[in-house]
Amino acid sequence: MFVTVCKDYDEMSRKAAAMVARLVRAKPDAVLGFATGSSPLGLYQELVRMHKEEGLDFSRVTTFNLDEYCGLPPDHPQSYRYFMNENLFNHINVPMERTHVPDGMAEDWRAHCAEYEEMIRQAGGIDLQILGIGSDGHIAFNEPGSSLGSRTRRVFLTRQTIEDNSRFFERKEDVPTSAISMGVATILEARTCVMVVNGTNKAEALAAAVEGPITSMITASALQMHPDTHVFCDEAAASRLTMREYYDWISHQMEADG
Ligand code: GLP
Repeated sequence: MFVTVCKDYDEMSRKAAAMVARLVRAKPDAVLGFATGSSPLGLYQELVRMHKEEGLDFSRVTTFNLDEYCGLPPDHPQSYRYFMNENLFNHINVPMERTHVPDGMAEDWRAHCAEYEEMIRQAGGIDLQILGIGSDGHIAFNEPGSSLGSRTRRVFLTRQTIEDNSRFFERKEDVPTSAISMGVATILEARTCVMVVNGTNKAEALAAAVEGPITSMITASALQMHPDTHVFCDEAAASRLTMREYYDWISHQMEADG
């Protein structure tokens, strides 16, 4: 894993967005994987800025989101489809029909999950997957104990995740208890993974993911098996990393090499 510690959230967002932009310029029909949550919001704002001010062109891009709450329709303000439209898709020139978010209202969720995996395959696989991390170390909604070989499926959220995500809902009881989520193995197939992590409440999860053992109890740790994962974090999130000095040194070498 390549770990870049940034001075703050803005720098983290800019550096991660720059990786996305570089790919889209080099491969205009790139397949991008997106995540929701507060961590990638700045990254999305930066992509919108680059689209508006620098003409970054998303017209041939295809996108797949990691997950969606079960039971929330796309027009529900807390649904991940709504989040993506509001924070990114409505502000760039990606054709809406090329954006994919799992359908949390699917009646036959098994068939829907298989179809979602198939659509990713048909699109040629995900070139770059954006990720956040849950405070319990999860990626997408792959909660502790999720198989590292898991594929897109219906998952049940932990009490911790429901608690964490309740800040977006009026009442804790309103937070859905299950979701459709890409699996760990689905995510590991992306050619490049970019994880953005900020804040002290993520410090332990990040240290466990990057420096701890590979374990289904911290599903982000599976990224250690991925050949091209880039972590962009702020100082607060980096505070528990023991190899911090080494990561800084590598980052400087890589910047110098262009
Ligand atoms: C949810 C999402 C994850 C996200 C996590 C952290 O659980 N399914 O994809 O990484 O929240 O969210 P935040 O960035 O708001 O802390």
